[in-house]
Amino acid sequence: MQKFEIVGGNRLCGCVKLKGAKNSVLPLLSASLLTEDEVTICECPNILDVENMLKILKELGVKVERDGDKIKTSGKILNTEIPDSLAREMRSSIFLIGSMLGKAGKARTAYPGGCAIGRRPIDLHIKGLKELGVSVTESTTHIDCKTPKSKNENGNVCTSKLHGADIYFEKVSVGATENLILASVLANGRTILRNVAREPEICDLVRMLNAMGAQIKVVGSSILEITGVESLHGIVYTPIPDRIVAGTLMVAVAMCGGEVQILNCEANHLKAITTKLANSSCNITTRYGITLIESNGAPAFMRALATAPYPGFPTDMQAQFVTMMSIANGTSLVSEKVFENRFGYVEELKKLGADIEIVHDIAVVKGNSKLKGATVKATDLRGGSALVLAGLKAEGTTYVEDIFHIDRGYESFEIMLSELGANIKRI
Ligand code: UD1
Repeated sequence: MQKFEIVGGNRLCGCVKLKGAKNSVLPLLSASLLTEDEVTICECPNILDVENMLKILKELGVKVERDGDKIKTSGKILNTEIPDSLAREMRSSIFLIGSMLGKAGKARTAYPGGCAIGRRPIDLHIKGLKELGVSVTESTTHIDCKTPKSKNENGNVCTSKLHGADIYFEKVSVGATENLILASVLANGRTILRNVAREPEICDLVRMLNAMGAQIKVVGSSILEITGVESLHGIVYTPIPDRIVAGTLMVAVAMCGGEVQILNCEANHLKAITTKLANSSCNITTRYGITLIESNGAPAFMRALATAPYPGFPTDMQAQFVTMMSIANGTSLVSEKVFENRFGYVEELKKLGADIEIVHDIAVVKGNSKLKGATVKATDLRGGSALVLAGLKAEGTTYVEDIFHIDRGYESFEIMLSELGANIKRI
């Protein structure tokens, strides 16, 4: 089993270029199933979640080629069952269902896996798909979905397309919004999705689908109007850069001190993060598409911080901020409002000396901790990255185990950090 060995105390200086966002690339790969033409997605990070998604696409019969950071897909869906082991590896397998139904009329999958950060039900996905006419059979382990049957002009029973519907999401969900977009672009008629998530990665999906010939209109701030089309065509597309990798790096600099330039950074997507960091004694400037973060490594505490759907503060940055607050000069309160169980990493962080108490959905983070090296286990993707940040600041040597969680979403995390001057290696 691989782990990271980190000797804390170094400042971080240098330059990093961001790759495409994991949370964009995964739904974009799902979108590629909606055409048999060649789809090329550029700037794809080399991370486990993308690798697993490509394995699933291959199992579905699609031709997949990876050439460095470019991924090319083409061909027809030949198999409509997602292999159990792969579905259980990753949450994102769920939004293949929308594309598979839209293009092939059928999909079977085991309940999806992913990070253990809460119950993570898929009721909103299922309810929306049913409203588009999908018949869904759920067993204790699997979900079977089919488009409705109808008779053609010769009287033979055949699979027909999904039909448009007016769908209201009772809760804002990134995955359900993406799944329903993917299911409705090839449906008959018009679909209206209300109370959709507004993450930049969703806008990215809409942009790519429209460039492939879909008709998706953004109405106001939380409604999408989708007019079904007959077919989509191929495309070469570059996704938005990964704002969570950028945010994680920024917190690393805020904790360790230093000066780091982030290239290919979309500053507008990072406002909720950079506003908080600027209030916590970091200096952040963006010029000519390059964001520079400077810090003396002594973050100021934040009275209160709460996660929320975009444009609110991202839940995917909660663990990194709690870690930073553990060394700040006072007590901070951090509320987790998106997932019900996203403080799993806190017990590990405490092993490094952090003083944190969890009261319901709030982490009470008493600052001024002097972090000291220890052996800890990554519990999930973002919590794992937060433990690495703690190790970079801690006195002595930290070992972070179970780093496969971190490899799901950060490409060669240790190389990126060591190029900035951190003392970290994979052993
Ligand atoms: C996506 C992101 C993840 C991020 C999260 C919230 C991807 C691949 N993952 O996850 O990194 O942390 O958005 O920004 O893009 N919910 C239901 N029923 C459903 C679906 C969701 O109750 O059918 C709940 C969830 O349990 C959670 C909340 O809605 O409490 C938000 O989840 P959702 O936005 O769907 O997250 P994901 O799409 O899984």
